[in-house]
Amino acid sequence: MHHFDYKNGVLHAEGVSLATIAEEVGTPVYVYSRATLTRHFQVLDDALSGIDHLICFAMKANSSLGVVATLAKLGAGADVVSEGEARLAMAAGIPPEKIVFSGVGKTEAELAFALQAGIGQLNLESYEELLELSHIAQRLGKTARIALRVNPDVDAGTHAKITTGLKENKFGIDWTQAHTVYKQAMKLQGIEVVGVAVHIGSQLTNLKPFEDAFLRLRDLVVMLKADNIPIQKIDLGGGLGVPYEPGVNETPPLPVDYAKVVKACVGDLGCKLVFEPGRLLVGNAGILLSRISRLKEGATRSFVVVDAGMNDLMRPALYDAYHDIQPVKEPKPGGARRAVDVVGPICESSDVFATQRLLPMLTKDELIAFGTAGAYGASMSSEYNGRPLVPEVMVDGDRFAVTRPRPSYEAMIAQQKLPDWMG
Ligand code: LLP
Repeated sequence: MHHFDYKNGVLHAEGVSLATIAEEVGTPVYVYSRATLTRHFQVLDDALSGIDHLICFAMKANSSLGVVATLAKLGAGADVVSEGEARLAMAAGIPPEKIVFSGVGKTEAELAFALQAGIGQLNLESYEELLELSHIAQRLGKTARIALRVNPDVDAGTHAKITTGLKENKFGIDWTQAHTVYKQAMKLQGIEVVGVAVHIGSQLTNLKPFEDAFLRLRDLVVMLKADNIPIQKIDLGGGLGVPYEPGVNETPPLPVDYAKVVKACVGDLGCKLVFEPGRLLVGNAGILLSRISRLKEGATRSFVVVDAGMNDLMRPALYDAYHDIQPVKEPKPGGARRAVDVVGPICESSDVFATQRLLPMLTKDELIAFGTAGAYGASMSSEYNGRPLVPEVMVDGDRFAVTRPRPSYEAMIAQQKLPDWMG
């Protein structure tokens, strides 16, 4: 459920017309709904009631301060994968002890930063990383609270580029070797073993892979506990999918059903459960608002050229992802439709948002909204093709604020400098 609806013939974010935002901020622009974010967090939190848990928002899905601060106020922690994300999380009000630092390639500088900053949990992905961390912790006189991320070799059944739990993937420590690495961790100075972690992929639309992975984890935790390895936390990662194309073969499980699987698999182990949802919390809480620059009739296709590009929303280009497209001006019920290709201005054939999509008759200068763009939209955007980073707006009831202003061209250029010797 989200709060982007037509009111008086115009698409609104909560109580604010998207036409007003376009006029005041320009396009393209990301618009987030605070009520939707809050609702999504609460639905998951309620589903997990009865078990000791912490929801650590996966910052990679959306590192906008307005979004993260909204979740922080609701009690969320953060799952971060870089020093930059950790700093953003703290800037948004998330205390370091509620931060989990994941990632296969944390640098020594990042590990040291995490220890100095008092990050609550480091999820380690290799024996090599464990040794490095032990040395750094000793040098700094700190103790690192660690979990090992286990690779359970379970197929998440999702897009190949966002599957992480197969043994061919670079992620985690093979589940058959994890016990040995834990025993080694127990002997290392500067290391305190606190938990075990898993994450098998993203946009899962089926609960079975979660169940398979969680049961493997369960077996491991039972073995570790029997060996007096003090596992207090089980981090189950993120990955629960959201509906992108309403009504079409992809109905992700409800959080309450996901929670049932969680409780059945690991609920009785006496551990605190940590979750790292990204998309589930923010996906449907954001849209990308764009204006039609031109209608172009090709030899065999009609193109709708919009002012957003793959640099602003790269999911369709990278994963052939589907994003719903709605005109901001409400189409007449039963009105004419035609199949068009919705494309951006970037000089790449992959800069296509929709192919042969049946849409209402659109006109030049009209506004459209790309749905379910709150996750992995702005956070994956770039300045490709010399386009300043896309701005972001937060809506709260009848008010809105620009949380990331559109940089001027001068500001974009001023980020770079030429050496004196290039005169
Ligand atoms: N935890 C870890 C260790 C992860 O690697 C990820 C996502 C998450 C949590 C959050 O997963 P979520 O709940 O959002 O599914 N750019 C891609 C998605 C990449 C996901 C990477 N890892 C996309 O746009 O679909």
